[in-house]
Amino acid sequence: MLENLQTVGVDMGYGWAKIWSDQQYHKFPAVISWGNDRNLARVVETFKTSEIPLDVEVVNETTGVKGHFFIGDLAVREGEQPTYMWSKNKAADDMSLACLATSLALVANNEQQDFYVITGLPVAHFGTQLKQEYEKALKGSKFTVKFLSGYLEKQTREIRILAAKVLPQGYGAYLDQLLNANGNVARTEYLAPTGIIDIGFKTTDIVYVNDMQPIDRSSFPLELGMSWAYEQLQRQLNATYDIQKSLEEIEEIFLNKKVRIHREYRDITPWIETACRALTGRLRNEIARKWANITDLENIVIAGGGGVALFEYLDYPQKILSTDAQFANARGFWKAGKRITGGIKDDTENSTNNSKVDQTG
Ligand SMILES: Nc1ncnc2c1ncn2[C@@H]1O[C@H](COP(=O)(O)OP(=O)(O)OP(=O)(O)O)[C@@H](O)[C@H]1O
Ligand SMILES: [Mg+2]
Repeated sequence: MLENLQTVGVDMGYGWAKIWSDQQYHKFPAVISWGNDRNLARVVETFKTSEIPLDVEVVNETTGVKGHFFIGDLAVREGEQPTYMWSKNKAADDMSLACLATSLALVANNEQQDFYVITGLPVAHFGTQLKQEYEKALKGSKFTVKFLSGYLEKQTREIRILAAKVLPQGYGAYLDQLLNANGNVARTEYLAPTGIIDIGFKTTDIVYVNDMQPIDRSSFPLELGMSWAYEQLQRQLNATYDIQKSLEEIEEIFLNKKVRIHREYRDITPWIETACRALTGRLRNEIARKWANITDLENIVIAGGGGVALFEYLDYPQKILSTDAQFANARGFWKAGKRITGGIKDDTENSTNNSKVDQTG
């Protein structure tokens, strides 16, 4: 049965959901809405195989709750009143669980799939009861996810979460640096004191790790992320061109570095640089207040989508940008899972083969 256990790292951010598994990885905006019949839209979509519209019916087999949802880009495009999944208590939020189940369905190796899920909670919520509640809610839960549109139309995935572990967000980015794909320690320089700065959409998680151990005293959340820079741009666009843009639209403008005004594109690189510099300055000040001895840190790992945007503005000499930084947490969680599932497999082999000595203690 363990051969069948699929290990998946899931990082549900305030802005984007990221999923990492052996064969596949995905990201989609952490936005959800109730679904409706897409009679017209569906006709064209069956020809397009590049995009998977997350038009899903999710049944939580444990609680009996059933719903039809649009998730990610589809919710942004076609959903009525799409909302970000910003609830604090993910265990008690049906939409948040539906989103998790859908992300597992996307990467499932088989139509019926058992999972080992490693996921994160913001550093701000980690020390609370929420972590236990979330782990408890996930363990043993069962979902059926049916795709209602796109080339996966009518396909169903039966998802069962056999084991679950919840780690602090940001710590995933640390494990990603330290471990290889089998979950073994590969880069020993990360056993030295290491700081992680995981810059997200709404928040930045700061984690201090020494010899694989996160240190509470020096780990903290900041209520400051890329959305602050987007708000600066939003105001500037409004003041200069008298246009109103939503945060999702601003995010797109930020990534393209230009905005369409009537029929022309205007380059807004200087505004972006100013906003990034201002955000970096604010983050730096907050971090300096809590990390008294930054010089003692051997490594400073910069992660998160915001890490990609702000890396060049951060002037720590020990800074390292995670590869594919927006996925760093999800990939690190997955590696942590490989470490542990590897252990589970060894243990079962040991119990069926008495000649082997269990060295794990
Ligand atoms: N080059 C880039 N690649 C990826 N993301 C980028 C890049 N530049 C800027 N970003 C932005 O980084 C932001 C943060 O992405 P990320 O997925 O890390 O946030 P999150 O984990 O959802 O948020 P939080 O950590 O606050 O919960 C996104 O808004 C994204 O637009
Ligand atoms: Mg994040």
